[in-house]
Amino acid sequence: PTPAPEPSYSIGFTPVAANRDDTVTVPAGYSVAVMLKAGDAIESGADSYSGSYPTPAQAEKWAGGNHDGMEYFELEGTDPNAGGLLAINFEFPDYNILMAGSYNAATATADQKAIALSAVGIGVVEVARGSDGKWAVKSGSKYNKRYTGNSSYRAGGPASGLLSGTIKGMLNNCSSGRTPWGTYLTCEETTDNYLDPTQPARNYGWVVEIDPYQELAEPTKRTAMGRFNHENVAYMANADRRVAFYMGDDSTPGCIYKFIPSRAYSATNRASNIDLLDYGTLYVAKFNGDGTGEWIALVQGQNGLVAGAQDPGNVSQSVTPPAATTVNFTSQADVLINTQSAARVAGGTVMDRPEWITVAPDNSSIYVTLTNNSGRRVASPSNPRTTNLHGHIIRFSEEGNSPLATKFSWEIFLLAGDPGFSAGGANLTGDINGDTFSSPDGLRIDPKGRLWVQTDHSVPGSSGVSGVTIEDVVGHNAMFTIDQQTKQSKRFLVGPEGCEITGLAYTPDLKTFFVNIQHPTGNWPINGEEPRSSTVVVTRDDAQPVGN
Ligand code: FEO
Ligand code: CA
Ligand code: CA
Ligand code: CA
Repeated sequence: PTPAPEPSYSIGFTPVAANRDDTVTVPAGYSVAVMLKAGDAIESGADSYSGSYPTPAQAEKWAGGNHDGMEYFELEGTDPNAGGLLAINFEFPDYNILMAGSYNAATATADQKAIALSAVGIGVVEVARGSDGKWAVKSGSKYNKRYTGNSSYRAGGPASGLLSGTIKGMLNNCSSGRTPWGTYLTCEETTDNYLDPTQPARNYGWVVEIDPYQELAEPTKRTAMGRFNHENVAYMANADRRVAFYMGDDSTPGCIYKFIPSRAYSATNRASNIDLLDYGTLYVAKFNGDGTGEWIALVQGQNGLVAGAQDPGNVSQSVTPPAATTVNFTSQADVLINTQSAARVAGGTVMDRPEWITVAPDNSSIYVTLTNNSGRRVASPSNPRTTNLHGHIIRFSEEGNSPLATKFSWEIFLLAGDPGFSAGGANLTGDINGDTFSSPDGLRIDPKGRLWVQTDHSVPGSSGVSGVTIEDVVGHNAMFTIDQQTKQSKRFLVGPEGCEITGLAYTPDLKTFFVNIQHPTGNWPINGEEPRSSTVVVTRDDAQPVGN
């Protein structure tokens, strides 16, 4: 079935021109302010960064680095449009404010390891809008808390017995998501602890559930959701409170997954959802050439997941097929710890680095960014470009718009690129209608159904045209809104030098947008100081909803 036509979601603002200014540019009539920088104190008892390297104890209380996915949570008794909790991922340390030189795992001192591990994980902060209209972290709030690469985590689900009893750390907290019962899901994008190689590798590469209100279980790695290079999680729920969680594996190449808990969640008894993510079925997506697709269950004993299974390997990266390898799936824990291999054995389609996934509020469509895959040598219908330098976006619809569906339909929503790259061949021009970009990554449909896209092209970044970088044509990484029906793309925000744009959260009235600026390299956010990853706040000067 063809996805139902959607209403037009055009947004009224004057698009920002592509630029290479060392600042955050927003449309006329909008303002942007920096709210939380790497090195700002989150927990009390430590001063914020002010030019000196931290002690391990200090770093453990600071905002970490490379801010990425985030979610906004309402607080009972507080006007949610004026204050709430923000849970923010820290993907990677901002080393320039942490230690002299760069980190080297082989030679790092114990203090340097502890400091580096402090700068990944997540932070929860209570934020509030002041009487001057400016948003700030409420210092001293009981909700302000860090969960780092040094903190302790438990494991739940079928593979938990094969993990350490108490796990040290989570890391590469890339993007994130939430559950309908108000917990935060933070995603580990690496499957080993490269900052502390003494830790067992199977302890990493999971979705971690954390309660920002600190009421439910301690932070838990949910093994039933699979182990891979997790990007984000987006859920779809139906009227019966059954839910599916969609996830991308940002690998070159990687598959797309969904996890369906075996029971409905409770909307009235929050505590009864405490182990919901430990029981259910993990599926991998298979994209057929005729625009149909199917979800294949990754269950030991089914779909080839048995002892002596033959993993075909990454068939897209070489015109000569790689040799198959033997993998023994003798338990569901084997399947979950080796999810990437299980997915290929079962027939999942290897995709061009699936990054963010987002679900429309009416469940009619799901979008996924395939950021790029310069090493693709064998095209497939859903990954149609070899040497895919600029990426694409796919839209798919579940059969009956149901989270429980085992079949879906799909289409290429757009191919990224720019006509300015035509000298490098047709693979590079793309078909974006309006403001162009490369390497879509962050992706979110807001509650009004408006699609937002954030980019992460490399800097300088090979455009595919000799002597022309990606930035030469599309400028710094930026954030766009794309009308789902007309596919008109409009540039809303442009980041400073060297950064990527990632992470989007908002207040319920959509008057306040929180956006993350990751790994800037110039003089932003404070001229004359070290550059720092930061969360910024975007508002309209007339106090109306963004893009109303
Ligand atoms: Fe952390 Fe795949 O971006
Ligand atoms: Ca990303
Ligand atoms: Ca990326
Ligand atoms: Ca990144």
